[in-house]
Amino acid sequence: MNILTFRSNEELNEAGAGIITGLVQTNPRAVLGLATGGTPVGIYEEIVKTYRKGMVSFKSVTTFNLDEYVGIPEDHPESYHAYMNKHLFDHVDVSRERTHIPNGNAPELEQECARYNQLLDDAKQIDLQLLGLGHNGHIGFNEPDHALVSGTHIVELKDETRQANARFFNSIDEVPTHALTMGVGTILKAKMILLVVRGADKAEIVHRALKGPITTECPASLLQTHPHVVVLLDTESGRLI
Ligand code: GLP
Repeated sequence: MNILTFRSNEELNEAGAGIITGLVQTNPRAVLGLATGGTPVGIYEEIVKTYRKGMVSFKSVTTFNLDEYVGIPEDHPESYHAYMNKHLFDHVDVSRERTHIPNGNAPELEQECARYNQLLDDAKQIDLQLLGLGHNGHIGFNEPDHALVSGTHIVELKDETRQANARFFNSIDEVPTHALTMGVGTILKAKMILLVVRGADKAEIVHRALKGPITTECPASLLQTHPHVVVLLDTESGRLI
């Protein structure tokens, strides 16, 4: 595990964007696993800047997002579909047929999970999986539990997760109670994992995830078993490392 700590958000964003665009420059047909949340926004901004300079093209790239809320329309500003359009897809030359996000409004959610798993199987392997980290150690929306699910599945969000994400909504009541998420098995199958964490409020969970016991009660701790993980931290989130 290669843990890099940055003094500024700008440097962290440049490093994260550089790893992703560097991969796409050398492998234009790369399969990228993408994340949402507050953490990767600055990295997507840097990627768009690099694209605008003509230094990288996404036209042959395939993308798979980690997760999506259940039951809010795709055009709701806080849906992860809307997030990806706003922060990345609307600004680069990615082909929309090759961008994949679970459909949280599918009439049969179990079937939707099976469809997503099939797409992932067809793609064989994600080359780089970008990840943020939840305060309780969740990755994607894989919440702490006594057992974890390997493939895409429906999850009931923990209260702490809904509270953490309430900042994006008008009130906690608007935060969906369920989501679809790629499973930990799929995440760990990625060739490389890029975990990005910022902020003093994540220092303890960063320590638990990277240095603590490997346990399903902290899903991110399973990343310790992966052979190729790069972790980008700011000084605050890396305080205990
Ligand atoms: C969200 C997402 C995760 C994200 C995490 C941290 O709920 N489902 O993919 O990594 O929680 O979010 P943030 O970056 O906003 O702190």
